[in-house]
Amino acid sequence: MFATTAPGKVILFGEHAVVYGRPALAAPVTHLRARATVVPTGRPDVGLIAPDLGRTMRLSAAPTDNPLAVAIRAVAAHLGRALSDGYDLTVGSDIPIASGLGSGAAIAVAVIRALALYAGPAGGLSREIVSRLAYEVERLHHGTPSGIDNTVIAYEQPVYFVRREGGNLIEPFAPARPLRLLIGDTGVRSATRDVVGDVRRRWQAEPARFEAIFDACGRVADAGRAALAVGDLATVGRLMDENHIWLARMTVSSAPLDTLVAAAQRAGALGAKLSGAGRGGNMIALVTAETEQAVAMALSAAGAVRVYRSDVG
Ligand code: MEV
Repeated sequence: MFATTAPGKVILFGEHAVVYGRPALAAPVTHLRARATVVPTGRPDVGLIAPDLGRTMRLSAAPTDNPLAVAIRAVAAHLGRALSDGYDLTVGSDIPIASGLGSGAAIAVAVIRALALYAGPAGGLSREIVSRLAYEVERLHHGTPSGIDNTVIAYEQPVYFVRREGGNLIEPFAPARPLRLLIGDTGVRSATRDVVGDVRRRWQAEPARFEAIFDACGRVADAGRAALAVGDLATVGRLMDENHIWLARMTVSSAPLDTLVAAAQRAGALGAKLSGAGRGGNMIALVTAETEQAVAMALSAAGAVRVYRSDVG
């Protein structure tokens, strides 16, 4: 049996603008994980098993755009061998789906790693290759993904990321002081693909306005990186607040997200913003040991269906 896991993720700064070439920062959420196992069966065909969803199907009967089938094809093409017989692939995840925490990319990364252990070189594939193959699955979920989700999840490290023709800029970083984050879930599911597509339509309709917003988000991400590098958490928090305002102007916030962000700010968070595609899903709040409890209680009182703690660095 070959078993692997992969973490969830949050976007600290720069979601959406990153699709348009501006810098962004993301961090793994290591205690929320997706899992994949490959069990050799010696039988024809491949069993695709998702117990959380109560779903089992044969690979030969799966639609061509089934994400597990796409991941299998991507690994098979990379390894130059067929992977269409002789094993069961089981997936599961603690990461809520369609909530901005990278569940799709995490399942893809876990599956690719499990298949590589089963069929590939000893020790598996490099994180760069795993990320590239997961990007092919991300394209299915997202249409025009930047690549930041598959990167931060495959690297399992905080990353500074810039999408670039001919090779993305990927710089893993460690904050000078650890970040204590609370993640508040609105409980509203929101498909990244739809939100990213809607932002694209709005950008096409009002290019100058959206380019200016993306520029501002890029400046915030660069300032955030500089503040993280010197451990200036007050500035990191202030920049998170500012990033949320730009995201709201992009129309990707929502009443439940604004309510949670405001509740966290009022309860003493250093900063708060939505994280991921928006219009639902999760927000993040930067807290200290002193404010953590008050902010967590304020998030629950303001309607968060779940509050997670996640540390960066
Ligand atoms: C989703 O985690 C981040 C977005 O910027 C989409 C992307 O970068 O592909 C909204």
